[in-house]
Amino acid sequence: MCGIVGYIGKKRAVPILLEGMRKLEYRGYDSAGIAVRGADGNIAVVKACGKLANLEARVEQGAPLEGGCGVGHTRWATHGEPTEANAHPHRSMRGAVTVVHNGILENYREMREELRAKGYTFLSDTDTEVAADFLEDLLLQGLSPLRAISRFMHTARGSYALAILFEGHGTIFLARKDSPLVVGKGEGEMFIASDVPAFLSRTKEFYCMGNMQMAEVSAEGAAFYDAEGVPASCERILETGDGAAAEKEGFEHFMIKEIGEEPRAVENTLHAYLKDGKPDFSEIGLTGEFLRADEVVAVACGSAYHAAVVFQYVAEKLARVPVRTELASEFRYRDPILKKNTLVVAVSQSGETADTLAALREAKARGAKTVAVVNVRGSSAAREADFPLYTCAGPEIAVATTKAYGAQLAAGYLLALGMAHAWGRLSDSELSRYTEELLALPAKMESVLSRAEEVRTFAKAHASVRDVFMIGRGIDYAVCLEGALKLKEVAYVHTEAYAAGELKHGAISLIENGVLVVGVLTQSGVAAKTRSNLEETKARGGKAVTVSFAEEGEEGGFLLPPVEELFAASLSVLPLQLFAYYVGVERGLDTDKPRNLAKSVTVE
Ligand code: M6R
Repeated sequence: MCGIVGYIGKKRAVPILLEGMRKLEYRGYDSAGIAVRGADGNIAVVKACGKLANLEARVEQGAPLEGGCGVGHTRWATHGEPTEANAHPHRSMRGAVTVVHNGILENYREMREELRAKGYTFLSDTDTEVAADFLEDLLLQGLSPLRAISRFMHTARGSYALAILFEGHGTIFLARKDSPLVVGKGEGEMFIASDVPAFLSRTKEFYCMGNMQMAEVSAEGAAFYDAEGVPASCERILETGDGAAAEKEGFEHFMIKEIGEEPRAVENTLHAYLKDGKPDFSEIGLTGEFLRADEVVAVACGSAYHAAVVFQYVAEKLARVPVRTELASEFRYRDPILKKNTLVVAVSQSGETADTLAALREAKARGAKTVAVVNVRGSSAAREADFPLYTCAGPEIAVATTKAYGAQLAAGYLLALGMAHAWGRLSDSELSRYTEELLALPAKMESVLSRAEEVRTFAKAHASVRDVFMIGRGIDYAVCLEGALKLKEVAYVHTEAYAAGELKHGAISLIENGVLVVGVLTQSGVAAKTRSNLEETKARGGKAVTVSFAEEGEEGGFLLPPVEELFAASLSVLPLQLFAYYVGVERGLDTDKPRNLAKSVTVE
């Protein structure tokens, strides 16, 4: 959701804040703002609607903002429209407290009414302004900033990452509940961000704040506290990346750069957990005892859910163990039934998705062992799951996931093979055949990507398409789910993914002249059936096109290199990702920052 940055040190804060915000703009981009404390202790706030460029222009035009301490925010609106009044930072009525916030305060209405009764008035529709006034009210009652924040943490419900400037205090205060916040350590300077990439080019040393923690950050360091104000420790991570992954490096968009990085993401993920030709998760403690679960439940949202559906098909086939995939947002509220020996696998790029985290916690509370297939190191899911199984996609910046999805598929294959091996369902020779197939995947993915031009040409010719169906069966259907989401997200094209056999049970009534029907046909046992369903759509005016191996191909369709069918999703999704990207570009859209979306969905 929203992006938070902060800086305190000897340098001028403004360019550093804006640099961090540029790197985090993928988290939210409907408005932005900064607050800087000047040498005189006064705090100046500048805000602008729309993308960060508007704020940068406003900062440039205004009086120079000096000062080495400040906070910044890129917003994804939750409460109140994306207006300047609703943009962060928010100040308390008397100006004693300035706040940037990521998350939702669920009881802000009650808090606001109590403050109103004390004479507070409000300039915005946001929950965040209430937090600023709430803290100011406590300061006026004589509480210190830390005690005021502690009281806030015991009063506010919902989620928050807060960076706070208090008048008369030269430091930055932080509070975190269910919304990520990291503190980067430099030489005589400190950085604050919702996500590591913001300042990866400036430091490699980060502290990942724990849930229900507070912090006070000065130029020399950070002191962490629990919600009672008792000093607490904080997990420290040393990042190895150089921040280059967070740069476009000459590409027009992050999305196309990241699609190009997908083979490497898969390769790195495979190498992380393949030892001597066998899946080996002992490094994270995930041994045979846990892999021999009687049942597996995968929980996730969006694309991660689609990757989990592929995992379900592959794992059931290989391990012969029931695997259920559930939307995390449904799982968390439906009183799910878990067996004694159920393994719950939460899949998440960010490791901060509110619903996925809640599902993970629900599973733990019910006694299940949990695996988090997660891309961001040190994220909440990684820290809270029993077994953090990292995908190695590197930082993903485009809001629409591509390479992280590819890496999730790879992690799913490994997990499925690990389960099958633990259950003794595969002979050594079968296992090594599968692992060889896996290791051959990145080169085959490269060969598919080398034909991106074919997809671009097709996308150009179909850029004005209004309705698209993507149909397939089994793993092909799972890939259609992802292909359809991509086209919706970045090209704003109405697209439906349908299990091919379901089409004639209703939705076929929507097929008419001009509807594009993409058939994914990589599963030999069912490809002919999907082919018949495609014919049915053609007979009704649909324009059919296929993604398939040579023998099933439609004229003009996209042909994939041969691959083990169980792993075909890693190839067949590529032309669909490229198609979405090129249609988005043809339509003149910002494919990296689609409207209404944010990268990391930390609210329900
Ligand atoms: O960070 P996560 O993998 O948990 O995110 C889950 C979804 O929000 C995410 O996959 C979303 O659907 C993307 N916009 C897909 O491109």
